[in-house]
Amino acid sequence: MEYEQLDEIIERAKAGLREVETEAETEAIRVKLLGKKGSLTEILRSMASLNPDERKEFGRRANAARAEIESLLAERFAEVREKRRRLKFESEILDVTEPGKGRPPGSRHPVTSTIDFISRIFMNMGFFVAEGPEIETVFNNFDALNAAPNHPSRDMTDTFYISADTLLRTQTSPVQVRTLMRQAPPIRVISPGRCFRRDAVDATHSPMFHQIEGLLVDEGITMADLKGTLDNFAKLAFGAEVKTKFRPHFFPFTEPSAEMDVSCFKCGGKGCRVCGGNGWIEILGCGMVHPNVLRVGNVDTERYTGFAFGMGVERIAMLRHEIDDIRLFYENDMRFIEQFR
Ligand code: DAH
Repeated sequence: MEYEQLDEIIERAKAGLREVETEAETEAIRVKLLGKKGSLTEILRSMASLNPDERKEFGRRANAARAEIESLLAERFAEVREKRRRLKFESEILDVTEPGKGRPPGSRHPVTSTIDFISRIFMNMGFFVAEGPEIETVFNNFDALNAAPNHPSRDMTDTFYISADTLLRTQTSPVQVRTLMRQAPPIRVISPGRCFRRDAVDATHSPMFHQIEGLLVDEGITMADLKGTLDNFAKLAFGAEVKTKFRPHFFPFTEPSAEMDVSCFKCGGKGCRVCGGNGWIEILGCGMVHPNVLRVGNVDTERYTGFAFGMGVERIAMLRHEIDDIRLFYENDMRFIEQFR
C-alpha cells in the first residue's frame, strides 16, 4: 500500500476541481473520489490487509487526505454556487439609468376640446349638460320643435330617415324637447352632440357634424337675458374685447329668432381672412323659445319663458384654430391631430 496513492487522489481532486463549472460537476467529482464506490473508499477498504501499525498510520493519512479533499470540494462548491448567483443577477439586471421607453401622450381631438371649451363656459354660468340620442323620432326632431309639416329641412334629400318616424337627428334641438318633457322649470341645459344631414362634402360641409344646444327656461326670462348670456359667452370664448351683434332671423322653434355675430377676434373688425373681410363672424342661432315648444313639455307659458341657442362645433373650432377645411377633422391624419396637443 503506497501513500502516494493518497497524494495521487488529492492531485486528481485538485485537477478535476479546476475544470468544473457547476455544482453538478463538482458533485460528480465528490462521488467519484469519496462516494461509496469512490477511489478513496476503495483504498480504505484495501487497508484490511495491512498489519495494525501500518493500518493505524495509513488510516491517519487517509483521514487527512479525505479532510483535504472535503475542504477542496467545499471551497469549489462555494465558488461555483457564487458564480451561478452572479450570472443570474447579471442576467436579471435592470439599468434604471437607461432612458425610458417613450409613451407620447395622446391629445384630444379639436372637436372634443372645442365641445369641452364651450361646455365649460356655460357650466360656469350654471348650465348642466344633457345629452340625447343620435337616432331620434321625427316628432322630437321636427314636430315638437314647431317645424311646419312642409318645412324644407324635413325633405328626404336633406335628412337621413331610418323609417317613417325615426331619423338621424339633423340638430341637437330635440334635446330641448326631451329636457322639457322630463324636467320642470327652472331649466338650464346645454347639449353637445353629433348631427347628420344629407349634405355633399366640401370644405365647409360634412354629412356628420356637431352642435351645442342651449336651453334656459324660468320665470321672467326676456330677450335681455338671452343677449346678456350670449354676449358674456362670446367674450369668454373669443376675448373680452369682442362685440356682439344680433341679426333678426327665422327658426321654427324660437320667436323672435336671431343670429349672433361677434366682431372678428383676429383683426378686431378691420377685415381679414378669418372674418372673410367684413369684420363680423356669425357664431350661433338663438331666440326666445316658441310657446308651442314649451307646451310640448306642459310648461305654463303664462308663467315661464325661455331662450335657446345652437351653434356648430366644427365651425367654432375652425375659427379658433384657423382651420380652412372641415374634412381635416374626420381624416385622422396624425400630422393634423398632433397639432392640438
Ligand atoms: N337647430 C338650429 C340649426 O340647426 C340651430 C339653433 C338655432 C338652435 C336657434 C337653437 C336656436 O336652439 O334657438 O340650425
